[in-house]
Amino acid sequence: MKIDDIRTDYRKGKLDKDSIDINPIKQFTIWLEQTVTADVDEPTAMTLSTVNAENYPDSRIVLLKLIDHGFCFFTNYHSQKGQDIDHNSKASLVFFWKPLERQVRVRGIIEKTSAAESDAYFNSRPSGSRLGAWSSNQSQQIASRQVLENQEQSFREKFAGQEITRPEHWGGYRLIPDKIEFWQGRPSRMHDRICYQRSTIADANWQISRLQP
Ligand SMILES: Cc1cc2nc3c(=O)[nH]c(=O)nc-3n(C[C@H](O)[C@H](O)[C@H](O)COP(=O)(O)O)c2cc1C
Repeated sequence: MKIDDIRTDYRKGKLDKDSIDINPIKQFTIWLEQTVTADVDEPTAMTLSTVNAENYPDSRIVLLKLIDHGFCFFTNYHSQKGQDIDHNSKASLVFFWKPLERQVRVRGIIEKTSAAESDAYFNSRPSGSRLGAWSSNQSQQIASRQVLENQEQSFREKFAGQEITRPEHWGGYRLIPDKIEFWQGRPSRMHDRICYQRSTIADANWQISRLQP
């Protein structure tokens, strides 16, 4: 297989400081709505990068479930990512929406969502997914698939006829951004990059700049 001549020329859009919202979360919402309208697969899938206690970065995809003053996703608090975030709350997200030739990079600080927010989302999930949250010690080694299925079966029996409540080790995180960059592919690698940055996550004023591609 020859991969070095795989090449795409991007020409679907433009991005300009004059045509964007001064608030990057609003701008993100506009782009996300356009992504959903364009029927892009997994529009809420984002790559989350965290750093562990040995300062190794690691990345994995999670789903954006809520956007307010931050970007919220849900997971197992004891997972590898959960342990990384306990150690270092600085993290980043990246979205790639290929059909629109767009990328969004987000950097910031992660906090847990409130228990009420985690409950509200947990209770909206199908029962199979709620059971899954109990059945998997996410990121731990397991001897076989059969052991996992046995764990699920034992929780199915435990909760038979009862409401499946949220386990304490499962819930949401909110990444509050201090930097968000919007990238629009352009022909000949002359892409548009608009970056919003603020001095801290408490600062209401975002500085907007254009970056070289
Ligand atoms: C499309 C997609 C969506 C995913 N969404 C989530 C999610 O919302 N939450 C989650 O914990 N894992 C999700 N995963 C699984 C993670 O990528 C990862 O395997 C898991 O969270 C364990 O990561 P960790 O060991 O680094 O903690 C998703 C994977 C894919 C491919």
